[in-house]
Amino acid sequence: MSSGMRIIVAEDEQEFNLRAASLVVETLESLNNPLVTFPTGMTPLGMYRALVAEYRDRPLWRTLRFVSLDEYAGLPPDDPRLFSLWVAKECLDPLSVPLENRMCFVSNASDIDAEARRMNEWLLIHGPLDLAVVGIGSNGHIAFNEPGTAFESGAHALALTPESIRSNARYWGGEDHVPRHGITLGLANLAAARHTIVLASGAGKSDILARALTGPVTVDVPASYLQTISNVSILADKAAAQYII
Ligand code: GLP
Repeated sequence: MSSGMRIIVAEDEQEFNLRAASLVVETLESLNNPLVTFPTGMTPLGMYRALVAEYRDRPLWRTLRFVSLDEYAGLPPDDPRLFSLWVAKECLDPLSVPLENRMCFVSNASDIDAEARRMNEWLLIHGPLDLAVVGIGSNGHIAFNEPGTAFESGAHALALTPESIRSNARYWGGEDHVPRHGITLGLANLAAARHTIVLASGAGKSDILARALTGPVTVDVPASYLQTISNVSILADKAAAQYII
């Protein structure tokens, strides 16, 4: 485990959500016009509710700049499965983050590789990220950086792995409803972030969290890039943290 890594273990779900929200707000309030990315998935939902309940009146949301972490590819702009709509509904809309401050992947771009290049070019001008809040997939993916993705990767389009399709099935009522392709910030975009907060909850994440933080740094476990960067806070509940404490 890298020495600059801070591990916070929450006793229960309520502490996990409140701690995640306070960590995010403390970090954002220490920065000017911060550029942030937030994850989808089940893990951050309680944090979003805590941000809205406890911190919605903070001035910071008016100047926050948001960039998509990942997205399914090929969906129309009103498809309810879009991660951009998910984050908007749970977090950006209730916190009144201005629409013009949101840089989102266009899922149905006619050329998805060109869309990834557009994001990389945008980040060259407006980046790097000040804060990356990320979850971890059960196969070690971060965003949609699937096992085998180069650590040097920028934003890119990809085919979801069968394991990711299986784990995303719970969001949409079955594997048949999970889109097969995605677009994601790359590991190099994420590693360049000035601050990183990783959220992991539940026993299902315990093995992969230990492999990512204490195992070899390898493209087989994309989240192992976390060992190579500074200013990383890991927030885990007791079940997810069982092999790292
Ligand atoms: C999804 C998302 C990731 C998310 C991860 C974990 O596939 N693309 O950004 O972090 O899987 O999701 P969950 O929190 O539901 O376990």
